[in-house]
Amino acid sequence: MIFDNHNRPITYLRLAVTDRCNLRCFYCMPEEGIKYLPKHQLLTYEEMLRLVRVLARLGVSKVRITGGEPFVRNGLMEFLEQMAAIEGLRDWHITTNGVLTAPHVPDLVRLGVGSVNLSIDTLDRERFRLITRRDELPAVQGTLDALLEQQVPVKLNAVVMEGKNTEDIPALAELTRHHPVEVRFIEEMPFNGEGSHYPVLTWTYQRILDELQRLYPNLQKLPDPAHSTSYLYQIPGYQGNIGIIAAFSRTFCGSCNRIRMTAQGTLKTCLYDSGVLDVRALLRSGATDDELTAAFLKTFAHRPKNGFEAEQQRAPVSESMSTIGG
Ligand code: GTP
Ligand code: 5AD
Ligand code: SF4
Repeated sequence: MIFDNHNRPITYLRLAVTDRCNLRCFYCMPEEGIKYLPKHQLLTYEEMLRLVRVLARLGVSKVRITGGEPFVRNGLMEFLEQMAAIEGLRDWHITTNGVLTAPHVPDLVRLGVGSVNLSIDTLDRERFRLITRRDELPAVQGTLDALLEQQVPVKLNAVVMEGKNTEDIPALAELTRHHPVEVRFIEEMPFNGEGSHYPVLTWTYQRILDELQRLYPNLQKLPDPAHSTSYLYQIPGYQGNIGIIAAFSRTFCGSCNRIRMTAQGTLKTCLYDSGVLDVRALLRSGATDDELTAAFLKTFAHRPKNGFEAEQQRAPVSESMSTIGG
């Protein structure tokens, strides 16, 4: 296993397979004018498979497929089939918006997906349309039903936004009453391609927790899994859990085991850095596996200690979450 310069193991790769998306979520990208990468700038599936093999040899045992929206890239299922067979990979997961996912659920199960994280910020069709700028809630709910029916472990992601969906907190929390799902309420990060939406973030971890405790005075704290971004709670007697992700407050960096590969093959050792290694250039200049390994090790030895340090070291830009991979 590889440890970084702060003695944190690097065991988890978040791999973005595309920067494209079929929704236009308010917190992730502007409604119009986003420029997608031309195809030749994206890593090919062959390049991604090679990277996962090299990283698995270094001790990366978990991969999460992200985007953009992973299912808009052609050939995803064939890629997953090959990736799932890579030696050393213990488990793999996918984060999706659920618009195109339902028909693929049986194959995801066949290939051994560990869990699916589904973005669903509201259960109200009109609010969904306003947040995502598309009328796709029924398709997303179809994916949720298919996942539950096939007993795939599911986490539901809801970014909490002032004036957009705070009235949805109870309905989303109530999903845990009869379903064994984890509903996670997420602090909004300023990665929307337009700049920060608020002078200060009001729906912080603490405010979300206060609201949940107001709604459910007997809310219980559960132990948090190792390397977890979400702080876990449960409403007594309910089947599922509730998580709160302090994505903006960044209180969990001390146990961060994650690295990210963007769709264009830039390595990030923190969500908040601007990319620390051009892996695509290395691949396309004919680097051997040993050379790739050496470049990774050098980068892991210079990781910022937390998301604040990473942010300080970058130019102030408003990147879209679709290029970061979540
Ligand atoms: P697992 O722990 O594998 O279940 O993944 P996850 O919950 O971290 O992944 P997911 O893609 O569902 O992301 C949920 C939210 O957490 C998103 O808003 C992510 O941007 C945020 N997030 C994920 N990883 C990090 C991280 O390393 N740092 C910060 N600050 N936020 C993160
Ligand atoms: N702030 C917080 N979370 C975000 N996501 C996308 N953009 C943001 C943002 N600006 C979440 C989505 C998705 C996950 C990968 O990242 O809800 O589920
Ligand atoms: Fe890891 Fe950076 Fe996220 Fe902190 S902000 S948990 S260091 S990726």
